[in-house]
Amino acid sequence: MRQKIIVLDFGGQYNQLIARRVREAGVYCELLPWNKPFSDWADESLAGIILTGGPNSVYEPASPRLGREIFDLGVPVLGICYGMQLINYILGGNVEAAGVSEYGHTLLHTADTGLFRHVDRETAVFMNHTDRVSRVPDGFEIDAWTQDCPVAAFSCASRGIYGVQFHPEVRHSVQGAQMLRSFLFDVCGCAGDYRPEDTIEHMLSEIRRQAGDRKVVAGLSGGVDSSVACALANRALQPGQLTCVFVDHGLLRYREAEQVMATYRDNLGLNVVHVDASERFLKALEGVTEPEKKRKIIGEMFVRVFEKEAAKTGATCLLQGTIYPDRIESGMGGSATIKSHHNVGGLPKDSLFKKEAIIEPLANLFKDEVRAVGSALGIPKEMVWRQPFPGPGLGVRVIGEITREKLDILRLCDHIFLEELENAGLQESIWQAFAVLTGVRTVGVMGDGRTYSHCVALRAVTSDDAMTSEAAEIPYPVLKKATSRIINEVRGINRVVYDVTGKPPGTIEWE
Ligand code: XMP
Repeated sequence: MRQKIIVLDFGGQYNQLIARRVREAGVYCELLPWNKPFSDWADESLAGIILTGGPNSVYEPASPRLGREIFDLGVPVLGICYGMQLINYILGGNVEAAGVSEYGHTLLHTADTGLFRHVDRETAVFMNHTDRVSRVPDGFEIDAWTQDCPVAAFSCASRGIYGVQFHPEVRHSVQGAQMLRSFLFDVCGCAGDYRPEDTIEHMLSEIRRQAGDRKVVAGLSGGVDSSVACALANRALQPGQLTCVFVDHGLLRYREAEQVMATYRDNLGLNVVHVDASERFLKALEGVTEPEKKRKIIGEMFVRVFEKEAAKTGATCLLQGTIYPDRIESGMGGSATIKSHHNVGGLPKDSLFKKEAIIEPLANLFKDEVRAVGSALGIPKEMVWRQPFPGPGLGVRVIGEITREKLDILRLCDHIFLEELENAGLQESIWQAFAVLTGVRTVGVMGDGRTYSHCVALRAVTSDDAMTSEAAEIPYPVLKKATSRIINEVRGINRVVYDVTGKPPGTIEWE
């Protein structure tokens, strides 16, 4: 049986990253809401539990809390930030408001104990807390401290209980991954043999089991997730059982529909139907400015198009390329809903597709795991490494009301920017690059006259997994060239800005 670690989510912003790091270490894990009943997940495959950070304070009456039973499950427990304070609280230690909040890089002093046996005695970590442990429970020892935090890590090795006040999961904690590995391997005894591509056979049989002999329609967007999902389904199902639907919602990039269709036809041997639904989508979006509303409308429209195609083929199942972060960021865990990803937005109540007929073979995988599966399936490199593009497309990159005119302007700006990045050989180092029509008009001067036109923002980010990102440091001459081309070649733009915001505090997309 495959070992698993359960990460209980108390709402902190880095919680998905904890799960990522555990899987990167070759250990399967799932992120679940903190209040999910133990009976749903505490089985013989359980090797350890991680309690995440969160925005609360353990002494607030409404804070999420667990009872002592969490320590009776017979597996080690690691608490991170709020998770550590919770352990301390449950076991009778003291937590107090620190005089100063500690935020950012901090020098951690470690003892040769707990999770710190394989790291330096002084190592940089990332802190983000206001409360701190002031007295540890009986039987616990202090494993690490910082200048402002006398108990930065503690443990009771005999009971397999560990806590760290800082965030080992973020890259700023330079040796954080090693500390997590110590928990997984030295403490929990995990084997570290999980590889996403080894789950292909399981995914194929799950698709077969869920579909049975029913016909299936699949949403195909041109992105890596849906391409891999469709390639899996194509392998799993009988000839004629699967119809892939590529929906042109009018919110695609420059010449995207032609390119994507050609790639599918030439490379994947899929049965793909191209549906031009742009009229319907744009009509439904008329006058809508609020981002979540746009996402919900686009999500519902997709389902309606799939239903229509399903009716033509007699399909009753819908296959989607939903991946793990989509579900988590849409509020499946204990964390706040940041954005409703369209394929998790929930089916309209009257949908023809019943809940049990939704097949999501990648729903437990992170993006790089999907890419590993895609490569193992022989999907061409340029598809597996295609930049992510959001399901709602340019709909969330035209800020404010979406019109055909704005979409046309944006498409051209985006195309020019990407072309200049390509010319400069920068595409490979960038996670995602695109243009955003800001919804702001500015005054300019062109020739001898005044202009009052759109301002476009360029955005390029580097990232490992889209959960955090930094603005890419594009050489200035490249930005300048792209800017001058945009101003000269795109009517309706008189100003170009470059977005240098990281995530957090920004998100990658503007809406
Ligand atoms: P944010 O903007 O939340 O985006 O930092 C993280 C990553 O997800 C992509 N994204 C989406 N992908 N449906 C998708 O399939 C969506 O609704 C959606 N919204 C954002 C975004 O492009 C980035 O890669």
